[in-house]
Amino acid sequence: MLIFALFLFIIEHVSAQKVCCYQDVLDHLNMSRKSEVYSTTRPVQDHTHPTVLHLDLVLIAILSVSEKAQTFSPLIWIQMSWNHERISWDPARFCGITRVSLPKEFLWKPDIFIYEMVQMEEVLKMVSICKMDVHKFPFDTQSCNITITSVIHSVIELRLVPSSNSSLVTQFSRRLMQTQGEWEFLSLVVSTETIDYDYGHWDQITYTISMKRRPLLYVINFLLPVLFFLCLDLSSFLISDHRGDKLGFKVTVLLAISVLLLILNDILPSMSNRTPLIATYCIVIFALMLLSLLETVLVTYLMEKDSRTLLENAEQKWNTGMGGDFIHASTIGNGSGEETPHELLPVAEQGMDSDVLLLLLAELREMRSLMSTLSPGGKTAYWTRLARRTNIAFFSFYITTVSLFLMFMFLEWNN
Ligand SMILES: *[C@@H]1O[C@H](CO)[C@@H](O)[C@H](O)[C@H]1NC(C)=O
Ligand SMILES: *[C@@H]1O[C@H](CO)[C@@H](O)[C@H](O)[C@H]1NC(C)=O
Ligand SMILES: *[C@@H]1O[C@H](CO)[C@@H](O)[C@H](O)[C@H]1NC(C)=O
Repeated sequence: MLIFALFLFIIEHVSAQKVCCYQDVLDHLNMSRKSEVYSTTRPVQDHTHPTVLHLDLVLIAILSVSEKAQTFSPLIWIQMSWNHERISWDPARFCGITRVSLPKEFLWKPDIFIYEMVQMEEVLKMVSICKMDVHKFPFDTQSCNITITSVIHSVIELRLVPSSNSSLVTQFSRRLMQTQGEWEFLSLVVSTETIDYDYGHWDQITYTISMKRRPLLYVINFLLPVLFFLCLDLSSFLISDHRGDKLGFKVTVLLAISVLLLILNDILPSMSNRTPLIATYCIVIFALMLLSLLETVLVTYLMEKDSRTLLENAEQKWNTGMGGDFIHASTIGNGSGEETPHELLPVAEQGMDSDVLLLLLAELREMRSLMSTLSPGGKTAYWTRLARRTNIAFFSFYITTVSLFLMFMFLEWNN
């Protein structure tokens, strides 16, 4: 019984309270169906009143940046608010309802347009033009503009006002930023401008997004390997010039660098006002290594020239003076002049006396003097000495140029 009474009380109490729904508000506003009154014209009572549009832009993510296409695609969120002078209701009459949501086709909307936009991909994501300066790549900072303006409405009809200042939008964006990827978000700066055309003035809000590239990947993938190859090339000065290995080594290093240059071609745009520093870096290092390769070719050629003349000399000596000795020796041993030098040893084994030993001694002396002419200290090693001097001079030049150049690059990239 008591439960039943309570139930009744509840029903009575509830039915006594006024019930409203959002539809009541819409019915009151005559907005139950799509009404043209609200959607076709600018919502002002007096046409001389400009509509004030408060705008806020927040950057949610920097999705991709393309240096080649000079575009970047940010994920942005634009919030706009304006006063619709024809729509109002008294919340007290509708149980305190202060907000209703409507399909956007029901109402007038400002024709907001973004200058730089190439394509709107989804609701928030867009691709926009951004003129990039890759001079300092990969240590560059880029600023991209997002300029918001109206197409039809001049300042007489529509004023654009940013609702937050630069420090606030930067703060919002920092908080909302989901991923930063390759680019580190620096700041979002708001500026307003009124553009004058012949037929009126137009308000324009520019949001400038500044972002800094994280260079680590490029340093690891590109700058350091090139530097390592340069070090390898420098170290090749320690390899002896007499052998062909040095030439092969240098050619290999040069080929490795050219493969890296192909990667660079993929990254950088073909058009650029100023030569990117990284291109200078590559070209100069490549040129230095090419020069060092040519120097090695020259040095190898000079040394070859020397050893060729030495060999010729040696052969000459062999054929004239020494050959005679051998024939003489074999004459002593066997008594026959037709013996070749190969048969000398068996002759010696036959237990010949000290004459043979003396002859061997003479022969050794001859060889020693021949070896001394082959050695660099000898008079005939003119080209070798020249090659050595060239090597030292070039190495000093190379080290100095490389140090100066790297210092220059460091300063240029840093400032
Ligand atoms: C809605 O329409 C009725 C008549 O069709 C009109 O009397 C009333 O004023 C309108 N309400 C508004 C808010 O315009
Ligand atoms: C970006 O907007 C600012 C402010 O209006 C302007 O000074 C700058 O030149 C613009 N940059 C580009 C690349 O258009
Ligand atoms: C930006 O706006 C906030 C609040 O509106 C204010 O506290 C701050 O001083 C403003 N900053 C600048 C640089 O005007």
